[in-house]
Amino acid sequence: MSIAEPNAVDVNDPDRILEIARANVDPDEVIHAVKDNAEALFTWDYGKGQRAALDKLYEKAKRSQWNGSTDLPWDTVVDLEHFEPTVDPLENEYFFDHHDSPLKGMNDAERHEVWVQSFTWTLSQFMHGEQGALLCTAKIVETVPWIDAKYFAATQVVDEARHVEVFARYTSEKLGGAYPINPHLRLLLDEIVNDSRWDMTYLGMQIMVEGLALAAFGFMRDTTNEPLLKQLLRYVMADEARHVAFGVLSLQEVYDGMTNAEIRERQEFAFDAALLMRDRLMRQEVWERLGVNQRDMVKFMLDMPWEMKAFQRLLFAKIVPNCRKLGLIDAGDGWLRDRFTEIGVIEYEHLEDTAEEYVTFDLVEGTDAPLGAAG
Ligand SMILES: [Fe+2]
Ligand SMILES: [Fe+2]
Repeated sequence: MSIAEPNAVDVNDPDRILEIARANVDPDEVIHAVKDNAEALFTWDYGKGQRAALDKLYEKAKRSQWNGSTDLPWDTVVDLEHFEPTVDPLENEYFFDHHDSPLKGMNDAERHEVWVQSFTWTLSQFMHGEQGALLCTAKIVETVPWIDAKYFAATQVVDEARHVEVFARYTSEKLGGAYPINPHLRLLLDEIVNDSRWDMTYLGMQIMVEGLALAAFGFMRDTTNEPLLKQLLRYVMADEARHVAFGVLSLQEVYDGMTNAEIRERQEFAFDAALLMRDRLMRQEVWERLGVNQRDMVKFMLDMPWEMKAFQRLLFAKIVPNCRKLGLIDAGDGWLRDRFTEIGVIEYEHLEDTAEEYVTFDLVEGTDAPLGAAG
């Protein structure tokens, strides 16, 4: 991946973060081509159910399909002027009250605009990330050698198409348009697609990107009072929990047979992905649009005191326990433990991993916020 020597990287250098941001592209680009460097594998072993956990997940996925066009209340009026912002109260306080903040002195209307832009930006990045998942999972259908995994991945392709569809519709109809893809997210998706090894697609997408998405969707679903979005996220989360489980269940088997050197490459890949995802949270494009100095704002966000970064850390609440379950945290010399400690997310290692969480999030049988209550 892009960072050859992760040990040497200063994770809190704002210039490193802005350099990636500046590497962004032609704003008028419509098609973006990435080499996927992979062989498509046929298997002649059609024995269904040889991997019982994946088979169970596939059967569950077939029973849990929903229709993004007809199952959501699209006639809901979304009035951005009046609906309660979904904000992290600690971040809010830091952004607007701290004496060093580039946003200090903003009036209520300006603060509201920061929120509207951040909200639109966040949902736009969800949409782009969903397309990344669509492409990565289509690649997994081709590259994974096991029939049970090909079957499940095929259901995930349909799920991801639906997710792209609903986020695209939400941003276009309710928010008046989307932001382009964030450069850090784009680099991450490019690197995942680019890698020739099929298990890296899983690690980058199912474990890292979707693990973070599951946590982010959960936070927004729990804090928003906008009924359409709440229900949309509840539906999407039911699917995402299966996808993250798919990653954990598939990789366990693969990692069991790997050498230390191979595992180390996976650790570095996971950390590079984690760092790109953390850096994308700086949302430079929002500051640019609002005329706030990007470097000042990125530096200010990096300097946020530990105890105020609760939300940023929470986004890793699914990733870290799943990496632990896969044996990635302590393999070799505990290299990934040190890195996760450095970016302040190791505290989540003992939370429950999410190999089985899809049962909780099931739309019909799950115990997490039944749909009747969510709408
Ligand atoms: Fe998705
Ligand atoms: Fe997904």
